[in-house]
Amino acid sequence: MEAQQIDLLIHNIGNLVTMRGEPAPRAGERMAEIGLVKGGAVAIADGRVFAVGAEDEVLQQIGRLPVTQRIDAQGRLVTPGLIDPHTHLVHGGSREHELALKLQGVSYLEILAQGGGILSTVRATRQASEAELYEKARKSLNVMLLHGATTVEAKSGYGLTLEDELKQLRVAKRLNDTHPVDVVSTFMGAHAVPAEYKGQSADYVELLIGTMLPEVKRQGLAEFCDVFCEHWVFTVDESRRILTAAKELGFGLKIHADEIEPLGGAQLAAELGCISAEHLLAATDEGLRAMRQAGVIAVCLPATSFNLRLQQHARARDMIRLGLPVALSTDYNPGSSPTESLQLVMTLACLNLGMTPEEVITALTINAACAIGRQDTIGSLEPGKQADLVIFDAPNLAYLPYHFGINHVDTVLKKGRVVVEQGQLVKPTESEPFPGS
Ligand code: NIG
Ligand code: FE
Repeated sequence: MEAQQIDLLIHNIGNLVTMRGEPAPRAGERMAEIGLVKGGAVAIADGRVFAVGAEDEVLQQIGRLPVTQRIDAQGRLVTPGLIDPHTHLVHGGSREHELALKLQGVSYLEILAQGGGILSTVRATRQASEAELYEKARKSLNVMLLHGATTVEAKSGYGLTLEDELKQLRVAKRLNDTHPVDVVSTFMGAHAVPAEYKGQSADYVELLIGTMLPEVKRQGLAEFCDVFCEHWVFTVDESRRILTAAKELGFGLKIHADEIEPLGGAQLAAELGCISAEHLLAATDEGLRAMRQAGVIAVCLPATSFNLRLQQHARARDMIRLGLPVALSTDYNPGSSPTESLQLVMTLACLNLGMTPEEVITALTINAACAIGRQDTIGSLEPGKQADLVIFDAPNLAYLPYHFGINHVDTVLKKGRVVVEQGQLVKPTESEPFPGS
């Protein structure tokens, strides 16, 4: 990479996690390879990484180039910007009233079958104006950024009419255009069968395939299509029909698979060549093997199984043993996972899924980037890649999941610009409202 000057040099990094290597999913034992450098530095030019590695080597590569700004990392931890590859960011309302039901032992699917759960958020989202949805999602995106996320996937799926789905997707697009965090959009009209189609799911599937998917495509509002393949939601056959239609239109495919019942969603993900399959708590070994064969990334959501008080969690250790690449995510949504914090996810992934801190950071950087098709630009700190990184007020990587329930972020850089400083959002200026503008 050529440069006239170094815009920013971060030096005196105690532990620098680079994640350097192939821009490809890291599977099995390779999930432990994080490219750790002790005593590191990162030089940034034009919003991208110019040089990265041991401090003396970086200084050598900079040579006589002028350095505009320096940040002393004071021996702390630096990682690539965290990537959240599965969220339901845009929605109306909240569902704290479900906590009491949950404490009485009513299950997630029972609440949904009674017209609550996702369907109550559908009512709130339909009632909300586009401006209200934008404001609520913007606040959540700020919280995600403050906790270290620099790229976030966002699903629709609380509108369930053409207009209300488009409304959600327009909000996600506007956030991507106006907020420092990059937002990658997924159409999830197949998140639930809406109340007005109760008992007529075949008709709703027709609406999805015949009207919604083509219109979302025509307006260029989503890159991926996702389906909630689950008992009482969409069957494997319905999911296959919807995802096949999406594939023909050129969408990338994702699937909420085998979360509660082992329906065979993992096998379907393999059959259709989905980029990722999510949840997978109940996935069988056969399903996981099929995913590995087909190169499907397993996205595990430990905050969801924690919050649903499930006895079982995703079998991340078995997945890694079987050679699957694992990514992690908040699954941020108002029902099963009302949290924006990927740092909480780190702790739960270690303690409940048995993942090591190295596997966890791989799952939240390069593997998460692969799960949203962004591995060529983000997910690692390497020359030419986008300068998205986090300085944590922590001495080393294991400290993050270990010291839990608090926010360790000190500084966040997005496209080379400081967007969080001393744990606070940096106000955008008028000349540069957000990085890269
Ligand atoms: O990923 N599983 C389906 N969808 C979300 C939950 C959405 C909700 O409860 O509002 C999930 O967990
Ligand atoms: Fe989800």
